[in-house]
Amino acid sequence: MSAPRFLGTGRCVPDRVVTNDELSEIVETSDEWIYSRTGVHSRHFATHESGLDLAEGAARQAIERAGISPEDIAVCLVGTCSPDRASPSTACRLQLRLGLPEDTICYDLNAACAGFLYGVRTAHALLADTSRPYALVIGVEVLSRMLDMQDRNTCIIFGDGAGAAVIRRDEEASWKCEFGTRGNETAIWVQGPGPEPSFIHMDGKPVFRFAIDVVEKCIRRLLAAEGCTLDEVDLVVCHQANARIIDHVVKKLRARPEQFFKNMETYGNTSAASIPIALAELDASGALKPGMRVLCVGFGSGLTWAGMLFRW
Ligand code: COA
Repeated sequence: MSAPRFLGTGRCVPDRVVTNDELSEIVETSDEWIYSRTGVHSRHFATHESGLDLAEGAARQAIERAGISPEDIAVCLVGTCSPDRASPSTACRLQLRLGLPEDTICYDLNAACAGFLYGVRTAHALLADTSRPYALVIGVEVLSRMLDMQDRNTCIIFGDGAGAAVIRRDEEASWKCEFGTRGNETAIWVQGPGPEPSFIHMDGKPVFRFAIDVVEKCIRRLLAAEGCTLDEVDLVVCHQANARIIDHVVKKLRARPEQFFKNMETYGNTSAASIPIALAELDASGALKPGMRVLCVGFGSGLTWAGMLFRW
């Protein structure tokens, strides 16, 4: 038996705030349309900040709040689908910025909006036989660089930012998790490096249907595996893609809306960064207390998903 234990969290977003009203000067849309369809009022777009800068800001906060030293970190994983460079990885570059030991296991992983939870799962496994006790797991995105600002279907949805957590293995604790993917290449996709600008393409309706279906089923399966009810979970933190997705899931599960955290209003959809940003915000506000039962579900391009039910 063993589970990841969260020791400290952090978040970092670019300075520039872009409101729906600003976007409505670029494409034909309105604050009313965007807010009613997505729950987003504003998001942050990077200007002078790189993804590495945002990742570093979130990581430093998480390390400080965990009360550990960078020398005690054995694993540094970065979930991202919008890295500054194809190579070296953001995690490698963080090794130098943060002063992590040279033998730290550092790499990026791409599981789209589920990237942070894939990172936690992988880091937990890697920590089983490292000589130092802690892992740094980060989700960071600069999605604004992949947005076609003429496409009102996508440019209104996404935002930039980073969230981070320091975890260790708790050999006394247990958790339930699940991971899945469907090999879908058409619902949300990005071409990647090449001569043309590489934009996010999205077919919104199938993504919406996938999300409400998979989040509901994933939550039901995790609860069944744990042998508890949703009432016995203190907080559900879903990927902050869209408020309506969360509202549909709440209705399907007949849950209490206040159990399901939402902060997309001021961040937009920050993909791999959304869950760690949410956890860091909750942690900083004192809403997360040791021993609380927390359920996280990420979902996105792939169509990939991940769920985790654990104790804070
Ligand atoms: N402003 C105003 N009108 C818009 C618009 C915008 N930003 N984007 C699309 N429209 C228009 C469409 O052109 C369409 O017009 P038409 O009827 O004249 O053709 C109309 O609004 C309805 O479009 P539709 O695509 O049916 O809207 P929708 O209700 O499905 O909402 C999304 C679109 C993208 C908000 C919705 O599909 C969604 O949230 N999908 C999930 C996306 C997501 O979460 N992605 C990330 C997952 S990780």
